[in-house]
Amino acid sequence: MNSKTEVITCGEKETEDWAGAFARTLSPGAVIALSGNLGAGKTALSRGICKALGFRGQVSSPTYTIVHEYPNTPPIYHLDLYRLNSVSDLSEIGLDYYAFNQGITLIEWAERLENQETGITHFIRIEILSDNERKITVS
Ligand SMILES: Nc1ncnc2c1ncn2[C@@H]1O[C@H](COP(=O)(O)OP(=O)(O)OP(=O)(O)O)[C@@H](O)[C@H]1O
Ligand SMILES: [Mg+2]
Repeated sequence: MNSKTEVITCGEKETEDWAGAFARTLSPGAVIALSGNLGAGKTALSRGICKALGFRGQVSSPTYTIVHEYPNTPPIYHLDLYRLNSVSDLSEIGLDYYAFNQGITLIEWAERLENQETGITHFIRIEILSDNERKITVS
């Protein structure tokens, strides 16, 4: 999936399934930036990745805590930057820590990173086409 990939899914399950196939192409250290509007499916996609990597627990938006760390091999870090006030807050989160370790990092609302995108290995954009349809673009 190094070249640009586009897919349209119909329903949350199709997004999770697509994410599962995508997850199997990832190597430890991958940092995945997820962008798209409220309710686009960033968490659904993250859930699909986590399941495919073997994590059996609950995957929910870490909006109020900024980061969830799921015990798994490889470890999974699930970030949500929705409530990030400024890019300088990022130093508190320590994005570098995630970018340079051997886990898999998922970042919802990666738009908040502005130009501080060092270390991101995959960009995924989700667009809402209709109630059940989403366009997923990987670059
Ligand atoms: N094709 C689809 N793929 C993913 N989700 C879909 C699809 N069609 C409908 N949905 C619905 O859209 C919603 C996606 O919610 P989700 O929490 O994953 O979005 P999000 O992008 O993480 O939102 P937020 O910005 O609030 O974190 C769910 O209610 C899901 O059932
Ligand atoms: Mg979410």
